[in-house]
Parts: sequence; C-alpha cells; structure tokens
Amino acid sequence: MKINNRLKTIGDLVPLSAYPLDIGCDHALLSIYLVKEKGFSKTVASDNKSCPLKKAKENVNFYKVSDKVKLIEAEGLDSYTDGIDTITISGMGGLNINKILDDNRKYLKNINTIILSPNNYSDAVKRKLIKLGYHIDNEVLVKENNIIYQIFVFKRGKKYYSYKKIFLGPVLSKKRDNLTLEYYRNLLENKKALLKALPKSFRTKIKVTKKEIKYLEDIMNN
Ligand SMILES: C[S@@+](CC[C@H](N)C(=O)[O-])C[C@H]1O[C@@H](n2cnc3c(N)ncnc32)[C@H](O)[C@@H]1O
Repeated sequence: MKINNRLKTIGDLVPLSAYPLDIGCDHALLSIYLVKEKGFSKTVASDNKSCPLKKAKENVNFYKVSDKVKLIEAEGLDSYTDGIDTITISGMGGLNINKILDDNRKYLKNINTIILSPNNYSDAVKRKLIKLGYHIDNEVLVKENNIIYQIFVFKRGKKYYSYKKIFLGPVLSKKRDNLTLEYYRNLLENKKALLKALPKSFRTKIKVTKKEIKYLEDIMNN
C-alpha cells in the first residue's frame, strides 16, 4: 500500500504483539499499514473530527480491513478500548499531545509503549512522558519533503535524565549518521538565531540558550 516514510517508520516501531490505538488518525493509513503489511489482527484508529473519520472509513473499506481496524470518533484518549497496550500519536503539536495524555491518565496504567511524533515542543513532550512514568527507549529521525521529523518510543518505567540528556536525546546523542548531524546542525543554527533575537532582559532564557549552544557545539565536534 502507499504510505509515506514517516508513517511507515512509526508503524515499524510498533511492537508486533501490540494492540495499538492511533489517536488523531486522520486518514487511518497507519492502522491500515499495520494490518495490511505487518499482520496485526486488531487495531483502533480514532480522531475527534468527523471529516477525517469519513476519509478513514473510505480507506478502511478500500483496503478491506474494516474487521481489523476499529474507527472511533472521540476526543484523545476517550477512544481507549479494553486491551489497548500501545498508543501512537503523530503529526500534532507537542502541547496538544501532552494534553491528550494528561487529560486521561487513568488509561495509561495499561499502556506499555507510547510512540509520538510531535510537530514541535519535543522537549516538553519528553518531559511530560518522563513525568508520567515512561522512559525514552528509542529516538528515530525521518526526513521527508525537506523536513526532519522526530519519532520517540517511550516505554513504561522511570529513569532519571539530566537536562542535557533530554535536550540532546539519550539515544540520538549516541548516533553520528548524516541525518542526526543535520538535525543537530539545524538546531544549533536555530538556537544561535534565537540568542541574537532575545532581548537583554530575558536573562534566564539567554543563559539556557547559551548552555544549549555549548551542548550542540560539543556533540558536533566529538
Ligand atoms: C495533521 S493530522 C495527522 C494525521 C496522522 N496522525 C499523521 O501523522 O499523518 C492531525 C489529526 O489529529 C486530529 N486531532 C487533533 N487533536 C485531536 C484530539 N485531541 N483528539 C483526537 N484527534 C485529534 C485532527 O482532527 C487531525 O485529523
């Protein structure tokens, strides 16, 4: 089936034994991919708007997987279904993702794996998941249409992370492939531009940004 590399990568990170829920499924292509290409026998795909779900239903029917992809119209984790142990959320703002997970914490007790690909605020997402009792098990980058997307795999279980580890990424900071270096280079340029633009009165932000620039320069020179 046709699926972009970002969604395929997220799908390939879902444990094969999982019962996964994709929140904000839009077209439901991720869940369809899991069923069609990865052999999943049951999945749930949800969205809080009827228009995307209409398209999702058309896709599910087109690929003849309506018995294996359950579609639910619901707000965030209200679509939780008994037995779900894995959640995917991608293509949304990081703060929206945090709100979805925070609003219905009660369901998280059954969730072992959470795979997230926020469009922004990724450090805030990492912090929220750590606070919710998860650790960062994997970090993967995908470049598509000249945009580098971050994908995080969180697993249940607490771990301590320093500010530097969260900022650079505990898994990512061990990698030295071209895409990872490009990601860090872009981040460094953004941080330098931010430092230039910050008013002098933003003392704390200036201090933090300088520290982040130093972390990025160190990692790129080692
Ligand atoms: C840009 S699409 C991303 C689709 C797909 N996950 C992807 O990565 O390509 C975001 C989808 O999330 C849905 N959405 C946004 N906030 C939501 C929420 N709180 N609960 C459920 N769905 C939500 C939107 O309706 C939209 O269909």
